Formats: sequence, structure tokens, C-alpha cells
Amino acid sequence: MRRKLIAGNWKMNGSLAANAVLLDGIKSELSQASCDVAVCVPSPYLAQCKSLLSGTSIKWGGQDVSVHESGAYTGEVAAAMLNDFDCAYVIVGHSERRSYHGESSELVAAKAVRAIKSGLIPIVCVGESLEEREAGKTESVVGMQLDAVLSVIDAGDCSKMVIAYEPVWAIGTGKTATPQMAQDVHAVLRARVASKSASAAETIQILYGGSMKPDNAKELLAMQDIDGGLIGGAALKAADFLAIIRSA
Ligand code: 13P
Repeated sequence: MRRKLIAGNWKMNGSLAANAVLLDGIKSELSQASCDVAVCVPSPYLAQCKSLLSGTSIKWGGQDVSVHESGAYTGEVAAAMLNDFDCAYVIVGHSERRSYHGESSELVAAKAVRAIKSGLIPIVCVGESLEEREAGKTESVVGMQLDAVLSVIDAGDCSKMVIAYEPVWAIGTGKTATPQMAQDVHAVLRARVASKSASAAETIQILYGGSMKPDNAKELLAMQDIDGGLIGGAALKAADFLAIIRSA
């Protein structure tokens, strides 16, 4: 039985004051969480997470990482810097970075490798646009996105990452994939992992992301290959995030 992971992606939201209220709210109710819980926050707030979450069962991480080790890369954040703040996770290849920052699947794969080499667990995001879904291309699109990563990591490292299936048309729109639609894609992704490492396919956590909310989390999380959620909007309210955690 795979343990579930509920991870919040705060995106570019938060303030020191608002984060303190949110994290206090989550912490105060979380002693009995039966799943893994994490928040992926803007880099300036990693120090705050380290200070407020150390010693709790909540892990934290970044939302992107540079492929480069260090140097003249203005605006980038190195894996070693995420290590400095005891991050457990880092999101790579979120659709917002693929589309607004032109990140290719090859770049995303290189970032995943960098994260793994640095002891961070990359949460590798894949997902199709509405146009691609309507053209029947969902499996080939997410398959290619995942294959780019699988082709550059060692088989033994497949178990050191998390995959998040995030249909682009469901992100921030209030539209959610039905549990069966999501399950079908998750099964395809798991089969792809199995072709590289059968044992990793058994253990790898494949999260669903895209308007997961308290009122739809339970049925999504009940599906065989849905091992958790990557939560945007609902991770910004302690009550909603906690409700999703309780569904897991
Ligand atoms: P929403 O939950 O706001 O749809 O965002 C999902 C997402 O992009 C998480 O990475």
C-alpha cells in the first residue's frame, strides 16, 4: 500500500504574516495525519518554513530549481540553496513554468536529475492542454513529458521522485478531471515507470493536481493509482488543505 502525499503548491502567493497564520492553522490540527504532507513555497519563505515547521511532520520545498550548480544565472535558485533550508521536495516542470517560461521537457528532466543528485525529491509535473485532450493526444503528451525524465535518470533513481499529473485545463479553473479520467492517465504513467523499473512503479507516488478541493478529493484519492494531490488554491486555506489531508 503506497502512502499518500498531499502537497500544497502556494505558487506566487503569501506574505510572512499570512503564511504564519496558514502554517499555524495546519500544524495545530495535524498531529494525527496518516499521509505525507508538504508545502512548496516561494523561495523567500523557505526560511520561515524551516523555522515554523522543523520538528513537525510537515515537509517543505521549492517550486523550481536551476539545472546549474552555481554562478551567473540571475534569478535562479540552486539545489544547494534549497538544501540549505532543509527542503525535502522541489516542483519541476509545472505547466505554468512550461508555458510562461518556455521550459522544455528536456530542461525539466535535467532539473529532475539535479534535484535527485542533491537529495531533493522532485515533484515532476506533466499534463495536457484542453486542445491536446480534445485531439485525443493526452497519453502521448504526458508519456513524452515523462519519458524525457525517465530517459535521463538511472533506473535505481525512479523511486526517488514523485510524479504529478496536472491537466492544464483543470488548473485554477474549477474544472476537475473525473476520478476515472485521472485514474486512466495515472495508470499510463505508472506503466511507463514500470518499463524502466518495475519495483519503482509499485512505490512511486503519482499525485493528481487541478482544482482538487475538499468536495472532490475523497473520490479522486480513492482511485487505485492516485497517490495524493498537488493542491493550488485550496492549499492557501488551512481548513480546505486540512479537509483534503483528512480525505487521504
Ligand atoms: P489548483 O488546485 O489551484 O487548480 O492548482 C493546481 C496546481 O497547479 C498545483 O500545482
